Amino acid sequence: MRVAWISSEVAPWSKTGGLGDVSGALPRALAEAGAAQVFVLSPRYRDLCHADQLWPAPELARTFRHGGHEVHGTAWRVRHDDRAEHLFLSCDGLFERPGIYGDAHGGYDDNAWRYGVFCHYAALLVRELGADIVHANDWQTGLLPAFLAPGHLLVFTIHNILFQGRFSMDAFRVQGIAAPGILDDLAFWDGASTMKLALRRADAVTTVSPTYAREICTPALGFGMDGVLAHDVRRLRGILNGIDPSWDPSIDAVLPARFDADRLDGKAACRSHLWTSAGWSAPPAGSHVPVIGLIARLTRQKGVDLALPVLRELLSENRVRVALLGQGEADLEHEVRDLAEIWPDRCHAHVGYSEERARLIEAGSDIFLMPSRFEPCGLNQMYSMRYGTLPVVHRVGGLADTVRDCDHDPDHGTGFTFAPATSEALSGAVERAILAWHDPGRWHSSMQNAMRQDFSWARSAEQFMTLYGDLWSAR
Ligand code: ADP
Ligand code: GLC
Repeated sequence: MRVAWISSEVAPWSKTGGLGDVSGALPRALAEAGAAQVFVLSPRYRDLCHADQLWPAPELARTFRHGGHEVHGTAWRVRHDDRAEHLFLSCDGLFERPGIYGDAHGGYDDNAWRYGVFCHYAALLVRELGADIVHANDWQTGLLPAFLAPGHLLVFTIHNILFQGRFSMDAFRVQGIAAPGILDDLAFWDGASTMKLALRRADAVTTVSPTYAREICTPALGFGMDGVLAHDVRRLRGILNGIDPSWDPSIDAVLPARFDADRLDGKAACRSHLWTSAGWSAPPAGSHVPVIGLIARLTRQKGVDLALPVLRELLSENRVRVALLGQGEADLEHEVRDLAEIWPDRCHAHVGYSEERARLIEAGSDIFLMPSRFEPCGLNQMYSMRYGTLPVVHRVGGLADTVRDCDHDPDHGTGFTFAPATSEALSGAVERAILAWHDPGRWHSSMQNAMRQDFSWARSAEQFMTLYGDLWSAR
């Protein structure tokens, strides 16, 4: 089975969120699970990390007509990657810009065109590479069916149904997309959606957790796509993401000390390191306070606005220390900074993006907050559990599928869950977590439960290989 994995982000080279992590790890796991060859195709952005490891692949350069324009596509490959071959595509400088999807002024105006050209070039290459399965991800790859030659099986994965690739129909007509069937499948409300085209045309649709697969078929969380999914819901499967093996506190080189479920001393050292580097004061005499971490895109999806009032209250009572990391909506960035300015000795905030800091916070915290209003899968709660930091999560999507509540299931609990998505419900769960933290014996065994969970990619990769196999034999 030859698989072409197409994605707009691939970690560590390019990443704005979990899609990058998944595209960085799952293709390798597919190769390990038996795929004969896996090709990963993604754009070559201007600020691609590790660009020095890329090697030109002149044999894959193509000139093609797109929307009446002549486009020059060039490709690079990663030099030493035996498991999955990474190809980075450059198309007339469309991706050599300061940001991936936009810059400080917002999303780029020509994203429909940029990802249309990318899909076109990728479709030309997958034909050449002889891919049996084309595995596309999210709206940026939704236009592939407009360009794919017959004969490939298309799998489409929804990482977040909120982002649907919605543009005016003209944005696609100018790209020369004129086949009536394609235009019908693109049509969505008063415009067009690349995600809808992919959902209609894919041989199989997956999303990143079983609970989210059910949720997106409802009006509340389908964001208008539930009707499209209802069309043929049998094709939709929820396959839970895994986490990259580099997120492992026993080997993580960023940490000041390493640890695992049987050797927790290093966790205490990481906690002290975070405490000292954040410049926090000692807790009130005779007391102990837990460290709470939060790392997220600062958006409403992530429920950051629900968490801030809860943290504000706990900080004012001097009952916790808080480490915040994220960037996103301006008002939330402002509130996050504000909290750290009011209590510089209790709260540390970094508005920005830093994987190193993310790892230090995961390792040095006791409790991690993830009050997302919806969460297709979520990776941070899994990183937290792996690092012995118990997550407090809203019981939705992948959060519901990965975290078991310590009060509901004391022997197997791995965190704390709550619903509905309100500050009050979150506050109740945080109080339960703090109470449990003050009982070291109990906390210790929950930490060990959390750290021993299997979040490996091998499990997901096997399910994808079964899916590919089913499609192959059904064809
Ligand atoms: P989403 O993709 O919806 O943002 P996920 O939980 O799936 O949510 O993945 C988020 C990924 O991005 C995780 O790897 C997380 O550690 C990382 N991340 C998010 N914000 C930051 C940040 N400011 N700095 C470092 N890593 C971040
Ligand atoms: C999206 C979702 C997130 C998921 C990630 C990877 O960004 O918001 O929940 O973990 O994709 O699938």
